[in-house]
Amino acid sequence: MSAQTQNTRKRVAILISGRGSNMVSLIEAARASDYPAEIVLVLSNRPDAAGLDRAREAGIPARAIDHKAYPDRAGFDAALQRELEAAGIELIVLAGFMRILTDAFVESWAGRMINIHPSLLPLFKGTHTHERALEAGVRLHGCTVHYVVPELDAGPIVAQAAVPVLPGDDADTLAARVIVQEHRLYPAALALIAGGGAVLDGGRVRLAEAARDASAALLSL
Ligand code: GRF
Repeated sequence: MSAQTQNTRKRVAILISGRGSNMVSLIEAARASDYPAEIVLVLSNRPDAAGLDRAREAGIPARAIDHKAYPDRAGFDAALQRELEAAGIELIVLAGFMRILTDAFVESWAGRMINIHPSLLPLFKGTHTHERALEAGVRLHGCTVHYVVPELDAGPIVAQAAVPVLPGDDADTLAARVIVQEHRLYPAALALIAGGGAVLDGGRVRLAEAARDASAALLSL
Protein backbone atom coordinates (compact mmCIF):
# COMPACT_ATOMS: atom_id res chain seq x y z
CA MET A 1 0.00 0.00 0.00
CA SER A 2 1.38 3.41 -0.84
CA ALA A 3 1.83 5.97 1.93
CA GLN A 4 -0.76 8.11 0.24
CA THR A 5 -3.44 5.37 0.22
CA GLN A 6 -2.70 4.68 3.85
CA ASN A 7 -3.08 8.33 4.81
CA THR A 8 -6.40 8.78 3.06
CA ARG A 9 -8.11 5.73 4.54
CA LYS A 10 -10.94 6.85 6.82
CA ARG A 11 -10.57 5.87 10.46
CA VAL A 12 -13.67 3.87 11.41
CA ALA A 13 -15.11 2.72 14.74
CA ILE A 14 -17.70 -0.06 14.74
CA LEU A 15 -20.28 -0.05 17.53
CA ILE A 16 -21.86 -3.37 18.46
CA SER A 17 -24.05 -4.95 21.13
CA GLY A 18 -24.04 -8.62 20.16
CA ARG A 19 -22.50 -11.33 18.01
CA GLY A 20 -20.90 -8.94 15.51
CA SER A 21 -21.25 -10.85 12.25
CA ASN A 22 -21.56 -7.62 10.25
CA MET A 23 -18.53 -6.29 12.11
CA VAL A 24 -16.53 -9.33 10.99
CA SER A 25 -17.53 -8.79 7.35
CA LEU A 26 -16.38 -5.16 7.60
CA ILE A 27 -13.07 -6.09 9.24
CA GLU A 28 -12.44 -8.66 6.51
CA ALA A 29 -13.25 -6.24 3.70
CA ALA A 30 -11.01 -3.57 5.22
CA ARG A 31 -8.04 -5.94 5.04
CA ALA A 32 -7.78 -5.24 1.32
CA SER A 33 -5.06 -2.67 0.73
CA ASP A 34 -7.26 -0.65 -1.63
CA TYR A 35 -10.24 -0.50 0.75
CA PRO A 36 -10.85 3.19 1.56
CA ALA A 37 -11.48 2.70 5.30
CA GLU A 38 -9.64 1.07 8.17
CA ILE A 39 -11.34 -0.38 11.23
CA VAL A 40 -9.36 0.99 14.15
CA LEU A 41 -11.72 0.43 17.07
CA VAL A 42 -14.69 -1.70 18.13
CA LEU A 43 -16.86 -0.56 21.05
CA SER A 44 -19.76 -2.37 22.71
CA ASN A 45 -22.27 -1.08 25.25
CA ARG A 46 -22.53 -4.67 26.52
CA PRO A 47 -19.45 -6.23 28.14
CA ASP A 48 -20.74 -9.73 27.23
CA ALA A 49 -21.06 -9.04 23.49
CA ALA A 50 -19.54 -11.99 21.63
CA GLY A 51 -18.32 -9.61 18.93
CA LEU A 52 -15.71 -8.10 21.29
CA ASP A 53 -13.69 -11.32 21.30
CA ARG A 54 -14.15 -11.74 17.56
CA ALA A 55 -12.70 -8.24 17.03
CA ARG A 56 -9.73 -8.94 19.32
CA GLU A 57 -9.06 -12.22 17.50
CA ALA A 58 -8.88 -10.16 14.32
CA GLY A 59 -6.36 -7.82 15.95
CA ILE A 60 -8.68 -4.84 16.38
CA PRO A 61 -8.72 -2.98 19.72
CA ALA A 62 -12.12 -3.69 21.28
CA ARG A 63 -13.56 -2.21 24.45
CA ALA A 64 -16.81 -2.35 26.36
CA ILE A 65 -18.40 0.81 27.70
CA ASP A 66 -21.10 -0.66 29.92
CA HIS A 67 -24.14 1.61 29.63
CA LYS A 68 -25.34 0.38 33.03
CA ALA A 69 -22.38 2.18 34.65
CA TYR A 70 -23.77 5.57 33.62
CA PRO A 71 -26.71 7.37 35.23
CA ASP A 72 -28.22 8.50 31.93
CA ARG A 73 -27.89 8.39 28.14
CA ALA A 74 -25.91 11.64 28.02
CA GLY A 75 -23.29 10.24 30.43
CA PHE A 76 -22.88 7.10 28.34
CA ASP A 77 -22.65 9.09 25.11
CA ALA A 78 -19.99 11.37 26.62
CA ALA A 79 -17.89 8.31 27.51
CA LEU A 80 -18.36 7.02 23.97
CA GLN A 81 -17.32 10.37 22.55
CA ARG A 82 -14.12 10.40 24.61
CA GLU A 83 -13.09 6.99 23.22
CA LEU A 84 -13.90 8.02 19.66
CA GLU A 85 -11.93 11.25 19.93
CA ALA A 86 -8.95 9.55 21.54
CA ALA A 87 -8.81 7.15 18.58
CA GLY A 88 -9.19 9.91 15.98
CA ILE A 89 -12.35 8.36 14.55
CA GLU A 90 -13.77 9.90 11.37
CA LEU A 91 -16.73 7.58 10.68
CA ILE A 92 -18.96 5.55 13.03
CA VAL A 93 -20.50 2.32 11.77
CA LEU A 94 -23.35 0.88 13.86
CA ALA A 95 -23.55 -2.89 13.45
CA GLY A 96 -26.22 -4.43 15.65
CA PHE A 97 -25.79 -1.62 18.18
CA MET A 98 -28.94 -1.79 20.30
CA ARG A 99 -28.62 1.36 22.37
CA ILE A 100 -30.49 4.56 21.54
CA LEU A 101 -28.08 7.50 21.26
CA THR A 102 -29.00 11.03 22.35
CA ASP A 103 -30.09 13.50 19.68
CA ALA A 104 -27.10 15.69 20.60
CA PHE A 105 -24.64 12.84 19.96
CA VAL A 106 -26.34 11.88 16.68
CA GLU A 107 -26.36 15.48 15.50
CA SER A 108 -22.69 15.94 16.35
CA TRP A 109 -21.93 12.95 14.06
CA ALA A 110 -24.37 13.97 11.30
CA GLY A 111 -23.15 12.70 7.93
CA ARG A 112 -20.44 10.64 9.65
CA MET A 113 -22.46 7.77 11.17
CA ILE A 114 -24.20 4.91 9.35
CA ASN A 115 -26.35 1.93 10.37
CA ILE A 116 -27.60 -1.29 8.81
CA HIS A 117 -31.24 -2.21 9.26
CA PRO A 118 -32.72 -5.60 8.35
CA SER A 119 -35.57 -4.42 6.11
CA LEU A 120 -36.13 -2.46 2.95
CA LEU A 121 -36.64 0.94 4.58
CA PRO A 122 -38.89 2.85 4.93
CA LEU A 123 -40.79 -0.40 5.52
CA PHE A 124 -40.54 -2.09 8.92
CA LYS A 125 -38.61 0.39 11.04
CA GLY A 126 -37.81 -0.85 14.54
CA THR A 127 -37.49 -4.44 15.74
CA HIS A 128 -38.83 -7.86 14.63
CA THR A 129 -38.57 -6.89 10.99
CA HIS A 130 -38.59 -10.45 9.61
CA GLU A 131 -41.74 -11.43 11.53
CA ARG A 132 -43.45 -8.24 10.36
CA ALA A 133 -42.43 -8.77 6.74
CA LEU A 134 -43.97 -12.25 6.87
CA GLU A 135 -47.14 -10.92 8.50
CA ALA A 136 -47.47 -8.23 5.84
CA GLY A 137 -47.10 -10.82 3.08
CA VAL A 138 -44.47 -8.89 1.13
CA ARG A 139 -42.73 -10.80 -1.67
CA LEU A 140 -39.49 -8.87 -1.32
CA HIS A 141 -37.56 -8.15 1.85
CA GLY A 142 -33.96 -7.14 2.48
CA CYS A 143 -31.63 -4.75 4.22
CA THR A 144 -30.71 -1.07 4.12
CA VAL A 145 -27.61 0.94 4.96
CA HIS A 146 -28.55 4.48 5.94
CA TYR A 147 -27.10 7.56 7.59
CA VAL A 148 -28.17 7.93 11.20
CA VAL A 149 -30.49 10.80 12.16
CA PRO A 150 -32.27 11.34 15.48
CA GLU A 151 -35.48 9.67 14.23
CA LEU A 152 -35.04 5.89 14.41
CA ASP A 153 -34.25 4.11 11.10
CA ALA A 154 -35.20 7.22 9.14
CA GLY A 155 -31.95 8.64 7.76
CA PRO A 156 -30.91 9.03 4.11
CA ILE A 157 -30.54 5.66 2.35
CA VAL A 158 -27.08 4.75 1.04
CA ALA A 159 -27.64 1.24 -0.32
CA GLN A 160 -30.12 -1.62 -0.27
CA ALA A 161 -30.17 -5.31 -1.09
CA ALA A 162 -33.33 -7.35 -1.68
CA VAL A 163 -34.14 -11.01 -1.18
CA PRO A 164 -37.27 -12.97 -2.10
CA VAL A 165 -39.72 -14.13 0.56
CA LEU A 166 -40.25 -17.81 -0.26
CA PRO A 167 -43.17 -20.12 0.47
CA GLY A 168 -42.58 -21.87 3.79
CA ASP A 169 -40.30 -19.15 5.17
CA ASP A 170 -40.32 -18.44 8.87
CA ALA A 171 -38.54 -15.56 10.60
CA ASP A 172 -35.36 -17.63 10.98
CA THR A 173 -35.07 -18.73 7.35
CA LEU A 174 -35.83 -15.21 6.18
CA ALA A 175 -33.29 -13.68 8.59
CA ALA A 176 -30.66 -16.14 7.37
CA ARG A 177 -31.29 -15.09 3.75
CA VAL A 178 -31.13 -11.39 4.65
CA ILE A 179 -27.94 -11.58 6.73
CA VAL A 180 -26.02 -13.02 3.77
CA GLN A 181 -26.88 -9.84 1.90
CA GLU A 182 -26.07 -7.64 4.93
CA HIS A 183 -22.55 -9.05 4.95
CA ARG A 184 -22.18 -8.13 1.30
CA LEU A 185 -23.95 -4.79 1.40
CA TYR A 186 -22.34 -3.17 4.43
CA PRO A 187 -18.71 -3.37 3.25
CA ALA A 188 -19.79 -2.13 -0.19
CA ALA A 189 -21.74 0.79 1.30
CA LEU A 190 -18.90 1.78 3.64
CA ALA A 191 -16.51 1.72 0.70
CA LEU A 192 -18.84 4.00 -1.26
CA ILE A 193 -18.94 6.52 1.59
CA ALA A 194 -15.31 6.37 2.69
CA GLY A 195 -14.12 6.54 -0.92
CA GLY A 196 -16.28 9.57 -1.75
CA GLY A 197 -18.57 7.62 -4.11
CA ALA A 198 -21.66 8.54 -2.10
CA VAL A 199 -22.25 11.97 -0.64
CA LEU A 200 -25.05 13.53 1.37
CA ASP A 201 -26.83 16.20 -0.60
CA GLY A 202 -29.94 17.90 0.77
CA GLY A 203 -31.05 14.99 2.92
CA ARG A 204 -30.57 12.41 0.13
CA VAL A 205 -27.54 10.36 -0.85
CA ARG A 206 -26.11 11.23 -4.24
CA LEU A 207 -23.91 8.68 -5.97
CA ALA A 208 -20.88 10.00 -7.78
CA GLU A 209 -20.74 9.22 -11.51
CA ALA A 210 -17.98 6.66 -11.02
CA ALA A 211 -20.01 4.83 -8.35
CA ARG A 212 -23.22 4.40 -10.33
CA ASP A 213 -22.30 0.99 -11.72
CA ALA A 214 -21.25 -0.17 -8.28
CA SER A 215 -24.61 0.86 -6.88
CA ALA A 216 -26.42 -1.29 -9.43
CA ALA A 217 -24.53 -4.27 -8.05
CA LEU A 218 -25.98 -3.65 -4.63
CA LEU A 219 -29.46 -4.77 -5.58
CA SER A 220 -29.75 -8.51 -5.69
CA LEU A 221 -32.38 -11.18 -5.95
C1 GRF B 1 -28.33 -7.40 11.92
O1 GRF B 1 -29.43 -8.08 11.40
C2 GRF B 1 -28.48 -5.92 11.70
O2 GRF B 1 -29.15 -5.60 10.52
C3 GRF B 1 -29.30 -5.49 12.89
O3 GRF B 1 -28.84 -6.28 13.95
C4 GRF B 1 -28.28 -7.49 13.44
C5 GRF B 1 -26.87 -7.55 13.96
O4 GRF B 1 -26.25 -8.77 13.67
N1 GRF B 1 -29.19 -4.07 13.08
P1 GRF B 1 -24.69 -8.93 13.88
O5 GRF B 1 -24.38 -8.55 15.34
O6 GRF B 1 -23.98 -8.04 12.92
O7 GRF B 1 -24.41 -10.38 13.64
